[in-house]
Amino acid sequence: MVQPDLSFHGDQEVAPGLLDLAVNVRGEQPPPWLLGRLERALRQLARYPDPAAATRTVARRHDRDPDEVLVTAGGAESFVLLARALTPRHAVCVHPSFTEPDAALRAAGHDVERVILEPPYVLDPAQVPDSADLVVVGNPTNPTGIVHERLAELCRPGRITVVDEAFMDAVPGEPHSLAAARLPGLVVVRSLTKTWALAGLRVGYLLAEPDVVQQLRQAQPLWSVGTLGLAALDACLQRGPVRMAERDAGELGTVREDLVRRLTEIGVEVTPGSQAPYLLCRVPGRPDVHQRLREQGVAVRRADTFPGLTPEHWRTAVRDPECVTHLMSALCQVLPATTRDLHG
Ligand SMILES: Cc1ncc(COP(=O)(O)O)c(C=O)c1O
Repeated sequence: MVQPDLSFHGDQEVAPGLLDLAVNVRGEQPPPWLLGRLERALRQLARYPDPAAATRTVARRHDRDPDEVLVTAGGAESFVLLARALTPRHAVCVHPSFTEPDAALRAAGHDVERVILEPPYVLDPAQVPDSADLVVVGNPTNPTGIVHERLAELCRPGRITVVDEAFMDAVPGEPHSLAAARLPGLVVVRSLTKTWALAGLRVGYLLAEPDVVQQLRQAQPLWSVGTLGLAALDACLQRGPVRMAERDAGELGTVREDLVRRLTEIGVEVTPGSQAPYLLCRVPGRPDVHQRLREQGVAVRRADTFPGLTPEHWRTAVRDPECVTHLMSALCQVLPATTRDLHG
């Protein structure tokens, strides 16, 4: 069996002149108030960064204690810390999903079992083997957008359950977030990258029991999150910005619904139930849609590098109505009228 390229990510799709619907970062740049805050933090760069204040802000945001928080250089650092600090006997990654956790575990020398979900890609906790002592699952999952509702059932003594909530702040009200839950072995990974357009800053955090946090902190390079990252955490996790993100998430839901309807009308199969700022799509019998869209000036993310998916799958970001119009007119060039008529 051909191994999918776990190191491929959406940013590799982006090129000058293409509309970027491959990367799921919202917005071209951080909002002006946040840029202002970061500019002010520039003046503190002579000092070594002190994570204490930002850690308290994260803790407050999720009703946690500061010793249950570790600030990280993006969600990506969490996966590497987990892979390097833990010694699982039976690690399981649920797929299709963001591939970095799987890649980091393998790079650290661990064997990884893959639980590969079939459409509609909703996890039944019984699919995870009882013997798994480390489980990683995304919520909402990238690239399906599915929000799993029964992940608490995975948590038990003797097992670390990692829930990647990098996109959870795009779900209004976050009803199925486990960020505030105190469950045995639970590690929740969060990120500022997507909602606040901070991919280049590298900032996120994880929430876990104090002894797990301590173990991971010991594996983390000193001063891993710099002054600007800490300033961003302190700013974005205050009540006002959290409410702002929630309102934006609601608006995004309307754009997503419209896009699903229009894609379906022209014969694109869309994975139902996405609550994330992206959609997993497929046109049966057409493995060339990704490439043909590029020729039309639109970069979507190929999805055949996600274990369990095929060259017919691709993922598109959901952004604003203009992007929807642009994508739809490119697709109308790519898909023959017969496909569209059949489904229209
Ligand atoms: C589902 C998911 N989790 C985590 C990450 C890591 O994001 P970052 O390291 O920028 O926080 C990504 C990035 O694409 C992602 O898609």
